[in-house]
Amino acid sequence: VLVRDATEVDVLATLDLFNALIPTTTVAWRDHCASTDEHAAWFAAQRDRGEPVLVAEDAGQVVGYCCWSTFRGGDRFPGYRHTVELTIHVRDGHQGKGVGSMLLRALVGRARQHGVHVMVAAVDADNFGSIDFHRALGFTEVARMPETGRKFGRWLDLVLMQRIVS
Ligand SMILES: CC(C)(COP(=O)(O)OP(=O)(O)OC[C@H]1O[C@@H](n2cnc3c(N)ncnc32)[C@H](O)[C@@H]1OP(=O)(O)O)[C@@H](O)C(=O)NCCC(=O)NCCS
Repeated sequence: VLVRDATEVDVLATLDLFNALIPTTTVAWRDHCASTDEHAAWFAAQRDRGEPVLVAEDAGQVVGYCCWSTFRGGDRFPGYRHTVELTIHVRDGHQGKGVGSMLLRALVGRARQHGVHVMVAAVDADNFGSIDFHRALGFTEVARMPETGRKFGRWLDLVLMQRIVS
């Protein structure tokens, strides 16, 4: 498995991963899948801001991606500029084989180069696998926010986890 920076060629593969769990799970708190245009615009904005998107490639297939965005909107509140919130997703069928660990370790390395101090993971409280994953990668639960989200007609709790990376 190779971890590398995503390029425009990876827009559709990362869109596929982004959308994969939206219709059926509460892993991502939105009701509708992203369109190709929306995702391409997001991808371009990441590049323009210099915020990385990393992909894991196995035998020529993108099997996972991860990225970060500035925590709580760094433009209006620049005091948060050394804190980022990460997103990570490994394709079903490739999970539990170390791909997520490879991606997150690479992202942490990149974060250090960018002067990031804290990485935050905001995880649906029912996503026990992700909570265990982040804990295994050095993240600590710092908050539980009851009923901060809504999907499928019910309230959702958010677990905030963080790791000081440099
Ligand atoms: C969460 C996710 C990124 C983890 O990636 P992965 O490649 O499956 O994880 P790894 O194989 O690198 O696991 C590393 C460690 O994390 C822990 N872990 C990972 N998945 C776990 C699970 N489902 N249950 C319990 N522990 C888990 C284990 O300690 C594991 O180490 P081990 O295999 O030696 O026991 C991946 O499963 C995924 O994309 N899930 C669906 C989307 C998602 O939940 N994204 C995160 C949203 S916040």
